Amino acid sequence: MKILAVSCSPRKKGNTEILLGEALQGAKAEGAEIELYSVSGKNIQPCDGCWTCMKDGQCHIKDDMQELYDKLLAADGIIFGTPIYFYAMTAQAKTVMDRSMPLGHPDRNLANKVGGVIAVAGSMGLSDALKDWYFYIVSHRMLPASFVAGYGGAKGDVNKLEKGRQAARDLGRQMVKLVEKKFEYPPEFASPPIAYGTHTF
Ligand SMILES: Cc1cc2nc3c(=O)[nH]c(=O)nc-3n(C[C@H](O)[C@H](O)[C@H](O)COP(=O)(O)O)c2cc1C
Repeated sequence: MKILAVSCSPRKKGNTEILLGEALQGAKAEGAEIELYSVSGKNIQPCDGCWTCMKDGQCHIKDDMQELYDKLLAADGIIFGTPIYFYAMTAQAKTVMDRSMPLGHPDRNLANKVGGVIAVAGSMGLSDALKDWYFYIVSHRMLPASFVAGYGGAKGDVNKLEKGRQAARDLGRQMVKLVEKKFEYPPEFASPPIAYGTHTF
């Protein structure tokens, strides 16, 4: 079983990575193979809205998102992590979200994987980012796991939050237990939609 953590902080080894690392240690303690992927320093361009991915589940932008597609598809459970920038997720997190559109393809998708979220803020703005990741998780027909909200400003601040670090480890453990449940959407609902709502096209 593979548990992947995706850090969407541009700051290397910051609070998001620290809490994701704790979550991965929790997953490892339950026997999972773990990987931390940071978008920091990666070339991941914004979605250009071409919609060609709807045909074959492939994105025509050949940048570092291509390796992340492979990692997302190979994982059984994915924990998304973001700091809060201006009361919202980072631009990097939103870019990963938008570029995940190809993974809404019926034959190449994230359905039935377990999804968790970790968000870190200096003071406020956590709820919107957590909610937005849950829309992502549900839209991709993943099984939602829990979330962790951490507070910290300077690099390493979250190391002082013993309860927060424990919550992150528990999230990692929970991810493994949920993957072991082998959740499957009923086939008629398993094909990921591009979004909920009444579509006119
Ligand atoms: C550009 C920028 C905008 C930020 N905006 C907010 C904010 O709106 N609310 C908040 O609570 N913290 C805000 N912060 C603080 C970060 O969320 C905080 O430092 C966090 O721990 C960074 O996580 P990291 O160490 O993983 O990069 C901001 C930080 C930066 C650099």
